[in-house]
Amino acid sequence: MKKIIVVFILITTVLKASADEGMWLPMLLGQQVYDDMVKRGLKLTKEQLYSINKPSIKDAIIIFGGGCTGEIVSNSGLIFTNHHCGYAAIAGASTVDHNYLRDGFYAYTKDQEIKSTITVQFLERIVDVTSDVEAGLKGLNWTDRTKKTAEVYKSITDKVTDAANGLRGQVYSMFKGNQFIMYVYKTYRDVRLVGAPPEDFGKFGGDTDNWEWPRHTCDFSVFRVYSDKDGKPADYSAANIPLKPKWSLPVSIKGFKDGDFAMIYGYPGGTNRYETSYGIKLKNDIENPSLVDLRDVRLKYMHERMIKDPAIKLKLASYYAGVANYWKFYDGETKQLEKYHTYESKQKAERDFMTWAKGKPDYENIFRDYEANYAAWTPYAKQRQYLIEGILGSPLIAYASSLQQLENAMAKSGTSDADFKKALAAADIARKNFIDGEDIPSDEKIIASTAMMYNHDIDKNQYPIGFYDQIKNVGNLNDEATYRTWASSLISNTMILDDAKWKAFIDKPDAVTLQNDPAYAYASAFVKNYNLKYAKNYADFVSKNNELGRMYMKGIMEQNPAAVKKMYPDANFSMRVSFGNVKSYNPRDAVHYDYATTSKGVIEKYVPGDYEFDLPQKAVDMLKNRDFGQYMDKTKNDLVTCFITTNDITGGNSGSPVMDANGNLIGLAFDGNYEALSHKIAFDKDLNRTINVDVRYVLWCIDKLGGAKNIINELKLVR
Ligand code: ARG
Repeated sequence: MKKIIVVFILITTVLKASADEGMWLPMLLGQQVYDDMVKRGLKLTKEQLYSINKPSIKDAIIIFGGGCTGEIVSNSGLIFTNHHCGYAAIAGASTVDHNYLRDGFYAYTKDQEIKSTITVQFLERIVDVTSDVEAGLKGLNWTDRTKKTAEVYKSITDKVTDAANGLRGQVYSMFKGNQFIMYVYKTYRDVRLVGAPPEDFGKFGGDTDNWEWPRHTCDFSVFRVYSDKDGKPADYSAANIPLKPKWSLPVSIKGFKDGDFAMIYGYPGGTNRYETSYGIKLKNDIENPSLVDLRDVRLKYMHERMIKDPAIKLKLASYYAGVANYWKFYDGETKQLEKYHTYESKQKAERDFMTWAKGKPDYENIFRDYEANYAAWTPYAKQRQYLIEGILGSPLIAYASSLQQLENAMAKSGTSDADFKKALAAADIARKNFIDGEDIPSDEKIIASTAMMYNHDIDKNQYPIGFYDQIKNVGNLNDEATYRTWASSLISNTMILDDAKWKAFIDKPDAVTLQNDPAYAYASAFVKNYNLKYAKNYADFVSKNNELGRMYMKGIMEQNPAAVKKMYPDANFSMRVSFGNVKSYNPRDAVHYDYATTSKGVIEKYVPGDYEFDLPQKAVDMLKNRDFGQYMDKTKNDLVTCFITTNDITGGNSGSPVMDANGNLIGLAFDGNYEALSHKIAFDKDLNRTINVDVRYVLWCIDKLGGAKNIINELKLVR
């Protein structure tokens, strides 16, 4: 497989790449980008950043769980990541009596560490597979291209899959399908919880402070990865040993100043910096406001239950946090896109592109085609969002809809007995997980409200046939009480929430019982309505958009051959490095935000008994006593809690190491600022900031507050 190094920076009317913008592939770092990093302060060689033969920084960077980043910080496989990344594992290990989520937890010896279901993945190597993918897709039109892609990817990754050694390959489309790179990962399956601060620290400020600066959240947790005695990935076993990593990051407690160099490695999940004006319009007019309205309701009903009862809080906490996080994100994204007139600036860039494209058959019709593609899909976009975020926003209904696989297996004549048993067992296990996290009173209200919102906000012609006529029998469709009555009966009668009825079904499964179940009937009415009538429109919309995006991207490169020197591909959860500086900013007229927050601000925000701003009394006393020891910041004469940098990151980077010019850990990235919530679409060179927890605050928390000196002793401290 051929290796091509394609690294350009694009300086065009479309994207004015500023110095801090860019999520670079560390293994394909162009000389120009590397030189820029050095100019900004980096003291490391390219080989130290990423090496094929020798251990390098990239070997300390891991995919943590399903969507976060973590870093190795000791020679015994110790991992730092965010509290919000370890959140589900911490909540899962907690009970009302041993409430680690609320009170925090430290393993003072290895045998106190707690088993989790988390996996971590190390990047072994990358391979440019562009020519293989292109050979597999040659001559196909846009619909067939989409269909064939997964198959072509699989034929490539199959060659490196080695289950016994935990190896798998994954192909990433870069530059919207103009380049393809395979990453080969090694997955470890025995990962244990080592430490977490009390939630009042780890999530201090809650959803009020989420996505905002100034911030005082101690957003970290500590895990350890284990291997078998030969260093190979293995299932959990008492015989396993802490992994001997290829690289671990030294931890600097020297501190930093405004303006200092900062580098972040990690796994940014997704950006769309080449989004068109059409995409922004759909997002701002339909997708984001619909999601926000529906999540408003879901969050309200869960919250009123969570604040009343610690057991319900533990049950719902992780799910709630995820829903709340992107509720605020998408609300803020549209507000910022509108404020910065991103739609209008994209339109201008598109007009310039079209002027250039006149007479070039590959490109001249791109925006006419975009317009037609969006016009065809837009009438159904709201319905899709209401299905996903509304109807399936009920945990019960989401679970019920997963039973369609079972119905299909029962209906299909060819299903073997063994396959059917497997599907049944899977449904049973999934039900147990669902029941563990289910809070019926909030779910009942969610079901009622979202069914009503769908009725009020979606075009009648798109309703599932007959469904609302049925509810009409219960009462007036404009009256919430009608939906409440209906939802209450659904809850009382579904076998999914009734152990005896469920067991009877599992023992003697039949399609009619499933089809007549009220929760299943409701879920499948809406999902089938979508699948039968609209899913194809959506799939066509997406593949056509992908094809247009690929051509637009290619055109942009051709349009600016001289200016195109360096360019980075959109984030897609592949490893990236970004560089920038610690930097204060002015969010609006006459307002200045300092680069760091301190313990003083924690005490200022502290509200005893508050749901989001409370603190343990012991912590308040210790912060007031200023016993900061070696973690004290000399510039601030205080304990620095969080700080901001200009780095270009996004969701997925959570838990990422922030490093100084020598590759020492100085903090953990955990958030973005409100003023730049439009960052997935456009990087703002003045206002974009990454929010990090200072590693000295993390260590203070572990050492002084948690008394876990054993963790500190494992680290390589740089003083
Ligand atoms: N906004 C952060 C991120 O997406 C998550 C913060 C979690 N905290 C919270 N209050 N929900 O990485």
